[in-house]
Amino acid sequence: AEQKVHRASTTAPVNIAVIKYWGKRDPSLNLPTNSSLSVTLSQSDLRTHTTASCSALFPADSLLLNAAPQDVSGARTQACFRELRTLRKQLEDSDSSLPKLATLPLKIVSENNFPTAAGLASSAAGFAALVRAIADLYALPASPTELSRIARQGSGSACRSLFGGYVGWATGTEPSGSDSTAYEVAPASHWPSMRALILVVSAEKKGVSSTAGMQTTVATSSLFRARVESVPSRMQQMEAAIRARDFGAFARLTMRDSNSFHATCLDTDPPIFYLNDVSRAAIAAVNGINSAAGAEIAAYTFDAGPNAVIYYLAEHAAAVAGTFKGILGHVQGWEGQRGRAVEDAGAEG
Ligand code: PMV
Repeated sequence: AEQKVHRASTTAPVNIAVIKYWGKRDPSLNLPTNSSLSVTLSQSDLRTHTTASCSALFPADSLLLNAAPQDVSGARTQACFRELRTLRKQLEDSDSSLPKLATLPLKIVSENNFPTAAGLASSAAGFAALVRAIADLYALPASPTELSRIARQGSGSACRSLFGGYVGWATGTEPSGSDSTAYEVAPASHWPSMRALILVVSAEKKGVSSTAGMQTTVATSSLFRARVESVPSRMQQMEAAIRARDFGAFARLTMRDSNSFHATCLDTDPPIFYLNDVSRAAIAAVNGINSAAGAEIAAYTFDAGPNAVIYYLAEHAAAVAGTFKGILGHVQGWEGQRGRAVEDAGAEG
């Protein structure tokens, strides 16, 4: 019998969408109603580190996140485990010399290098790291595209964290979801001066989960239909802006898409309010920075919570990050420096 513990470790970065995913056309497979596009943050900023191991010595499948045991019985986690085990089983069936790992209990140990409770898209990095760690453990010859299809079933946005840089996620047309995968729009090196400033407006867990919020929006909002229709052209314009390194166009599209997403939330019945007064102050600050500069040099975007992510280029660090420290110095934050550790955006007071 196999008494050995087999093990593999990996990390996956957080991604923040600039064209938002909001709405599922198939809730069990996490198939989206619209395509989306994100920027992957540098791994030294925000990331999940995950070790996957399997052994006959383990009593059952388990998952620890920041040392706290998590429930693995949920359909999302189970779908990822099942898909990866099926691929491993295929390998074992085709090569009898391989150790039989597919049937062994899995132990997943994950650590975020940022506060999990801060509502910072932690599930995206979490499921991306979980899927890649198990794929490595099983020595699967799976491409990032294939792994993105699996991670999508854990958390939709997780599929985009399998790629670095600028990443799209296609809605796809197949009912099975086989073509609803992430793809690289451009590598990080294409536009290395891109920076992200993350303002942790609230470290509380979000009031309405993204899954519950999306379902209610799809069911009740009439604005939502208009939003879904506008996304394909916005996706094209965003991909063109990234290819051309046109920050003005990137910024305008990012802010309009965030506003459109939060408008459909307000149009949901009952309404969903993710932004708060500090979020709105951050929007006003970005507008102030851009009018003073006479051009869009900063772009805000908000996910399913009040925390602001501000994109800007390195050459405008003083004007953007500097201004934020002046106005919202009391708000904790991270300044994404590609390849360098993050910095606290403000001391108390
Ligand atoms: O995949 P989820 O359930 O984490 O949903 C993510 C939804 C947004 O963060 C609001 C948008 C996005 O595209 O990441």
